[in-house]
Amino acid sequence: MLAGKRILLLVAGGIAAYKSLDLIRRLRERGASVRVVLTASGAKFVTPLSLAALSGDKVYGDLFSLTDESEMGHIRLSREADLLVVAPATANILARMAQGLASDLATTVLLATDKPVLAAPSMNTRMWEHPATRANIATLMSRGTLFVGPGAGNLACGEVGDGRLADVMDIVAAIESYFSASAPLAGKRALVTSGPTFEAIDPVRFIGNRSSGKQGHAIAAALARLGADTTLVSGPVAEPDPAGVRVVHIESAREMLEACQAALPADVAVCAAAVADWRVRDAAGQKMKKGASGTPSLDLVENPDILATLSAAGNARPRLVVGFAAETENVIANAQAKRAKKNCDWIVANDVSANAGVFGGDENTVHLISANGVEDWPRMAKDAVADQLAQRIRDHLSKVA
Ligand code: CTP
Repeated sequence: MLAGKRILLLVAGGIAAYKSLDLIRRLRERGASVRVVLTASGAKFVTPLSLAALSGDKVYGDLFSLTDESEMGHIRLSREADLLVVAPATANILARMAQGLASDLATTVLLATDKPVLAAPSMNTRMWEHPATRANIATLMSRGTLFVGPGAGNLACGEVGDGRLADVMDIVAAIESYFSASAPLAGKRALVTSGPTFEAIDPVRFIGNRSSGKQGHAIAAALARLGADTTLVSGPVAEPDPAGVRVVHIESAREMLEACQAALPADVAVCAAAVADWRVRDAAGQKMKKGASGTPSLDLVENPDILATLSAAGNARPRLVVGFAAETENVIANAQAKRAKKNCDWIVANDVSANAGVFGGDENTVHLISANGVEDWPRMAKDAVADQLAQRIRDHLSKVA
């Protein structure tokens, strides 16, 4: 249910902070990844070590840590999350959120985020009922903050009433219901190719290319986050398998084609792989040795074109076929020609000349080419390109339902 979802959990300082440990466990069991920001007072109740052990990630807490900020700035913490969850949300952090204070890492992230925020309040019942807290909750609700709980019951302070952190399973249910409402591609199938292909010369040598798979993997992850049932056919890459995505690992172009055909039918196919154009006609069965026969020459034959094959798949053709065009010159003109030649619907064109830093880099400058013309997108992180493209795919599929 939560496969592939990225949750940023902000743990504030309340007696219920220990329940965040169980919450992390439950969320991860459901396939979500959880990254934790811990406030200074939260750290009085639960240790960073326990949170790190359960989340499987570093715990962030210090706004002014040079290492943290260079590795993972506060903006990136929010950018790399689908939902921010404040649990427990104390009276203090709710007040700071309502005021727009950025007095520590947690509140700075909350102020800087454009992602939805779900808060699970937890405090003494008098604090919960105080007009100041009521006003803060009203302000936050009017700005779109989502709430779960608090529940009523015996409070740690000995009083009875509202203010108890919602049950962990109720917080999980609130998170699930948020995501099921935001899964516009639920019921749709997506196929993505990514990475290079390796074409054997002999058992130890191959023809390959510099594709890192970052862009293709990010697209598969973005489509899965929108709820699409996603298959990623990937050549050999160092990127980890994206969560919530079915990954088929292949090596050669012919294996990639076979895996793609096996993954049909699909509503959308995105071919982001850098498929080798040629393979060796007869790869040697044994390692080729230096010797009397001198320097070998390679007899190459053309590989099948996966994008063109999917575009020409007749009844099995995905409703939307998207290709990439890696170009080093005349980017737009070459990409337009490629779109026509391969008969795909859209082409994402990018400049892969050496000075563009696309191969292996984290950023990309692309142009989206369709029947409607050319859109120039600003330079952005590959993850952001993936999110934009996934949104566009969603818009398109919702129109041609
Ligand atoms: N592609 C494919 N199968 C191939 C070659 C390319 O599916 N055998 C796809 C890529 O995944 C990409 C698009 O075709 O979506 C364009 O790839 P690119 O390498 O830019 O173009 P080529 O067709 O290889 O043309 P050229 O090398 O002549 O530029």
